[in-house]
Amino acid sequence: MTSWTAEKPSNIALIKYMGKKDKEKNIPSNSSFSWTLDHLTSKVELQTHAGDSDTWEPGESDFPFEMSPLGREKFLNHLQRVKDLFGVKEKFKVKSANNFPADCGIASSASSFAALTEVAFKACEDLSTKKFSTKEKAMMSARGSGSSCRSFWSGFVLWEEQSLGPKDFAIDSLNHMVVIVGGGAKKVSSSLAHKKVESSLLFKGRAERTSQRLEKVLGNLTSGNWENLYQVVWAEFWDMHALFETSEPSFSYFLPGTFEVLEKTRNFWEEKGDGPVVTMDAGPNVHLLWRSDQKDLALEFYNQNLKGHWTTLSNIEDIGFARV
Ligand code: DP6
Repeated sequence: MTSWTAEKPSNIALIKYMGKKDKEKNIPSNSSFSWTLDHLTSKVELQTHAGDSDTWEPGESDFPFEMSPLGREKFLNHLQRVKDLFGVKEKFKVKSANNFPADCGIASSASSFAALTEVAFKACEDLSTKKFSTKEKAMMSARGSGSSCRSFWSGFVLWEEQSLGPKDFAIDSLNHMVVIVGGGAKKVSSSLAHKKVESSLLFKGRAERTSQRLEKVLGNLTSGNWENLYQVVWAEFWDMHALFETSEPSFSYFLPGTFEVLEKTRNFWEEKGDGPVVTMDAGPNVHLLWRSDQKDLALEFYNQNLKGHWTTLSNIEDIGFARV
């Protein structure tokens, strides 16, 4: 038996990938831009085995998790896609694990598909003579799950239809907090959300709006205008959630706690004239990004508003994984 492992991080989008031009190939309707969450990772192991098909099982972890039958199918189909690229016929036992709790409502799709792609390329490169670049691997990862292609680099990453890679700015280190207002399985997966939003009348102008916002986000990062960055990123996640609310039929990820936490962050900004960049994925939890020189401010916000009320996961050591 031979085995290979790879570990990849998750990422949080500031400009969201929502809607697909081509559902088969996961070609996005708009460009997206993210920050890589180096502290939230998935590890995937492949072992050759004698069975007649690829199989999946949970890997060893402090935070074991199960994958739905549909999730497993998508995962193993992606492994097959990479094997087909190389013409590899071996069958594998796939094990995957996250370094964060499954019940905290953080999507592991980006990190787990990135790790699966990475390990599948490692194994197939060893079993064949072909070699691929990081960008080629990341583009292949997008076929499995779009957002995973941005997890192949640290820092800020831009994914435009055919162009993909890291972007450097003076701000190159951020602290992250995710406020967990609700965990559990999502009623509408992000893959399904990509389809449903096409029924919203707001979807028509979405690509244009995101391209204007992307320009502003890049401009604000270049000039270091944090407050304007906060405002654009705020508008962007609301735009995505407005698509959900205005789909026919409408759907929503918001929980009462979502509104409470959002209000607390806005009040904090109003009071201090400073604060975090705030965003949300297709889920109820609120992500906060802080510049590294805002650590004291981040702790002040946490102690005042989150501690004792909301389970919070952060790369700031004093917070770590603070369960209520
Ligand atoms: C809201 O990458 O999960 O997180 O390509 O169908 O697997 P599939 O979708 P996925 O969509 C992510 C959507 C998002 C926004 C983002 O990360 O850009």
